[in-house]
Amino acid sequence: MTARRGLFISFEGIDGSGKSTQARALAAHLGEDAILTREPGGSAGAEDIRKLVLTGEPGRWSAETELLLFTAARRDHMERLIEPALRQDKTVITDRFADSTRIYQGATRGDLRATVDALHDLMIGRDPDLTFVIDMDPATALARGLARRSGEDRFEDFGLSFQQTLRAGFMTLAETAPDRCIVIDGNRDVAEVTADVIAHAQRRTR
Ligand code: ADP
Ligand code: TYD
Repeated sequence: MTARRGLFISFEGIDGSGKSTQARALAAHLGEDAILTREPGGSAGAEDIRKLVLTGEPGRWSAETELLLFTAARRDHMERLIEPALRQDKTVITDRFADSTRIYQGATRGDLRATVDALHDLMIGRDPDLTFVIDMDPATALARGLARRSGEDRFEDFGLSFQQTLRAGFMTLAETAPDRCIVIDGNRDVAEVTADVIAHAQRRTR
């Protein structure tokens, strides 16, 4: 008999698209059965790696080095938080997961997608059951993201055309994985977007 396992949900999209806001809202709606986490980060070791990759000059790391750092962080996050929680039948909601690596490291600065996929198969080996891809206008999203002044803006600092490339990448990815990806229109009021997300999640958790 296979042990029952919880549902694994990710939120993806460009910087400032509303992922964190919506992930928080879904977690609040689901209550104590849900665990909210994020990438890069979510475990102590992965949070240390987060500081390395999100601060400093845009050229601080090559796409290849970033890929290794993000994958190391994800492996730690999986081992220490995600897998144990799913085994306890919790719903795990993560603000970004492997799709971010596929797009940010795999398809923006040269074509590293085959390397990204090979490393994912070798070291991570699973994808979420359900992925919300929040789609929105890159100029508005970039303005929202930079307005936060989080000090973690290394990727926002690549500029608008980078965000446009990312958006196209996420849309293509959603088309190629329709079994788990749901595209959500993020150009609406927070409450409207949340209602949409909750309705889709309820269909999967029932
Ligand atoms: P992300 O996690 O995708 O970077 P956030 O959820 O942190 O995005 O949102 C970025 C900023 O935009 C925050 O200041 C947030 O309050 C605001 N925001 C999020 N969703 C909306 C929305 N639907 N309309 C207007 N502002 C929003
Ligand atoms: P996040 O804190 O979610 O940023 P934002 O709120 O601006 O969306 O993620 C930090 C940055 O890390 C974001 O610009 C995307 C990038 N990133 C990658 O490049 N590869 C990855 O695998 C992950 C998880 C994130």
